[in-house]
Amino acid sequence: MGNHLYRWDEIQKLKDLAIRPEVASPFVEGSVRTGTPIVLRNPVGGALFTERDTLEVIRDIFLNPFRDLPNPKIILGDSELFSDYSNDPDGLAEKLLRLAPLPDEETVSSYVERVKRETGSSELFYYMKIRSANHPLLWFKVREVQKHIFNRMPYPAGGVELDIFFGDYSKTPTNIHRDGAGFIYVVSGSKKFHVWPFDRFSGLDSVKNDARLRPAYFLGESVRFEDAVATGIPLEGSRGDIIFWPDDHWHIAEGDGSIAITFCMSFFFNFSILSEIEPALQSIGAGDPQSLVPRELSKSGGSGPDVTPLNNELVTALDRWWKDTSVIYSRLREAYTLKQIERTSGAGFNQPFFPVRIDRESLIGVRLKCDPEFPLHHVVLGKVTHVAANGISSAFTDACEPLIPFLTWLNTGAEFTTDTATILFQETTRQSVNERERRTLESCLEFVLSMRAAFIVNGSGP
Ligand SMILES: [Fe+2]
Repeated sequence: MGNHLYRWDEIQKLKDLAIRPEVASPFVEGSVRTGTPIVLRNPVGGALFTERDTLEVIRDIFLNPFRDLPNPKIILGDSELFSDYSNDPDGLAEKLLRLAPLPDEETVSSYVERVKRETGSSELFYYMKIRSANHPLLWFKVREVQKHIFNRMPYPAGGVELDIFFGDYSKTPTNIHRDGAGFIYVVSGSKKFHVWPFDRFSGLDSVKNDARLRPAYFLGESVRFEDAVATGIPLEGSRGDIIFWPDDHWHIAEGDGSIAITFCMSFFFNFSILSEIEPALQSIGAGDPQSLVPRELSKSGGSGPDVTPLNNELVTALDRWWKDTSVIYSRLREAYTLKQIERTSGAGFNQPFFPVRIDRESLIGVRLKCDPEFPLHHVVLGKVTHVAANGISSAFTDACEPLIPFLTWLNTGAEFTTDTATILFQETTRQSVNERERRTLESCLEFVLSMRAAFIVNGSGP
């Protein structure tokens, strides 16, 4: 597997896992759009994520930590364990490595029992963030599951995040809170949440009035679970079910002492246009975002629940409001456009693939193709063409006329081999390509491969 490329038939099998369109459509219309919590009973045609996957992913995160990525978080009673592999003065990493699942650890239950034993704890809340880099195939699976949903609504501007939660905890230790919209797949056991509409607690003196605009807001000790539970909406799901609540809903998990495993695909929406364009502001190195944003834009975030900017509406708003032709605004508009194609090509995920080194030699004669259902994206900004695949973009500065037709051709799912791609492209599209253009197409292909956006078609891949 020196090339990290996946096989086309392997990827096709994942399509069986998708939420069927006839389930996705009423879910988006009836629950997402109206902001109603719901439990979808077994909406995925197969096991999206298993107990074995859970242990595998966790072990991988422990053993192959990535710098600059959030690390495992394990909460035992009142004490919080977390690891920082790059800077670890307290030796927590070493302590945590002893808690990594063993290769022969059979079940999550036996793992939970061992962690509790080794730490002398009576209750375990185990939470881990997953990056696509930790488990690329899982990322392909999840994008299939979400496909029919995001075909009917915009990608959440704040992104999609993946987390695993498990343990035998009686309540979420962070108490009642709100954060992204929960879209929670129950891997095993049964899982119960209590959720409340935003208004239920928003008027309390202790709750700040920007509680809805923040990515996450914790009620802390100001609301006791016991006092609030009677007014909550209970949502209970078991293996294979998906539990959903909208992003403005307060929630908490409640356990009965048995072990449940959930795999969360949270959707983070933005309620403020400023937070929507923040990544673009950061990418152009704008010092003080507030000073750059026209007042109408920065104010619009506070006006209540209807300001969730759909991406298209935001673009229109930017065009209308930003008559300013100064360089900084042009750069900001460009940076925003680029973030948009990255997000779309990355199926909305916050943690896109890392590029991997591809050994072209070992791919000679291997037939490949891209997936037309998840096309490569591009945008032309000035003289530069940006191509995005699986969440990351690459800039091609050489003016290259055939580049966009080449992307279109790849997006049809045409089969190619790395050594004949340009020739096949010329033959089938009757496009003539000179030597300089051929080099640009080759480097574009190199990028597509490094992002694993092409798949192996024929039998004996590397
Ligand atoms: Fe939450």
